[in-house]
Amino acid sequence: MNEKLVFKHGILASFYSRVLTPFLSKDERIDAESLSQLALEVLGQVSLRRTWPGVSEVISAAGDNLRIVDGRLEQEIFGCQFKNPVGLAAGFDKNGIAAGLWDQFGFGFAELGTVTMKGQPGNTRPRLFRLAYEQAALNRMGFNNNGADKMLRTLQKQCLKKPGNRSFILGINLGKSKVTPLELASEDYATSLELLAPQADYVVINVSSPNTPGLRELQSAKQLRRLVKRLRVIEMCPPLLVKIAPDLENWAIDEIANFACEERLAGLIAVNTSLDRLGLGKRLLVQTGRTLGEEQGGLSGSPLCLKALAVMRRLRASVGSDVPLIGVGGIDSPQAAWERIAAGASLVQLYTGWIFKGPDLVPSILEGFLSQLDLHGFKKISDVVGSEAPWI
Ligand SMILES: Cc1cc2nc3c(=O)[nH]c(=O)nc-3n(C[C@H](O)[C@H](O)[C@H](O)COP(=O)(O)O)c2cc1C
Repeated sequence: MNEKLVFKHGILASFYSRVLTPFLSKDERIDAESLSQLALEVLGQVSLRRTWPGVSEVISAAGDNLRIVDGRLEQEIFGCQFKNPVGLAAGFDKNGIAAGLWDQFGFGFAELGTVTMKGQPGNTRPRLFRLAYEQAALNRMGFNNNGADKMLRTLQKQCLKKPGNRSFILGINLGKSKVTPLELASEDYATSLELLAPQADYVVINVSSPNTPGLRELQSAKQLRRLVKRLRVIEMCPPLLVKIAPDLENWAIDEIANFACEERLAGLIAVNTSLDRLGLGKRLLVQTGRTLGEEQGGLSGSPLCLKALAVMRRLRASVGSDVPLIGVGGIDSPQAAWERIAAGASLVQLYTGWIFKGPDLVPSILEGFLSQLDLHGFKKISDVVGSEAPWI
């Protein structure tokens, strides 16, 4: 292992690569879900105590080398001030238990959820599988979460500052409860939003998870229009974004792009996990003895990168600079993040790549951005959005 890289971004990154990376390098070593649950529980306890004398200093010192602060990385998008364009994607902190800590890992924003109106257990375990060699994951979690009312209490307990006064941006991603029929989806999303609107800088309507039966049908412009109209009348409704699947036909991507322009949506997030097996249909899952082609769930990580990039290019071609785009899917290096921004994303999000690469990935991406800005002669990161400037 490269010692320089290990210590480059401090104690947390070093701990991760020495202690956790060995577990992540094999598919079957420690169940993937148990490992992230354990990590989240520890972070949740720390988040609750993060302002205690002594604790705040330790947290700040641990995250010191992960936070890259530079005015060239800042942007104002849908009325929110982003300190940098790299965020934590939805699904990792589903209940918001570590909401107060994500800036310490260097993220400019974090998306909590998916949360549903009613708490639900999700699908039966095992439902999250690591594909170490491919730096990928298959999941069929099924929106396991404690419900919107519990998330509200969890956020209140952490004494977060109000939206607009925080040093980083918190989004909340909303989904439909499994027990709610599709025809009543708007009311389900609306109840969650009524509870959580005062806590969120922005809200995402998730209609793209492959693990809730029928959910993706809500991606049609007609259904989305109904949903957005219903949510917009809610008091204090934050900027609304829609998160889309990577498996849409081109016409469907264009339809959503047109809808986003017409309705002046705050933004689109592309993409969720893929039902496509991305060339890995015959790959055996050691944990179940079946192939990926035989297993249910959505694929994420490195194999998703090119498909997600193509969706981003298509969206950008349709919406131009009228609707801000957030790029997610297979980003696991500074180059992949730069290419997503150059293709049209104002912001990017990480999940699977961050798990495999560890906390070092965020500062590495941001440092990569700064050196590319210099090499290209760009003044700030917003100049790169949609420029198709290559990684050099
Ligand atoms: C275990 C797991 C759970 C996820 N849960 C959610 C979720 O609840 N809501 C959501 O919008 N996306 C969810 N996602 C999708 C991610 O936010 C992201 O869109 C997708 O994984 C592609 O990014 P990546 O390749 O960087 O992981 C989940 C992904 C994984 C791997």
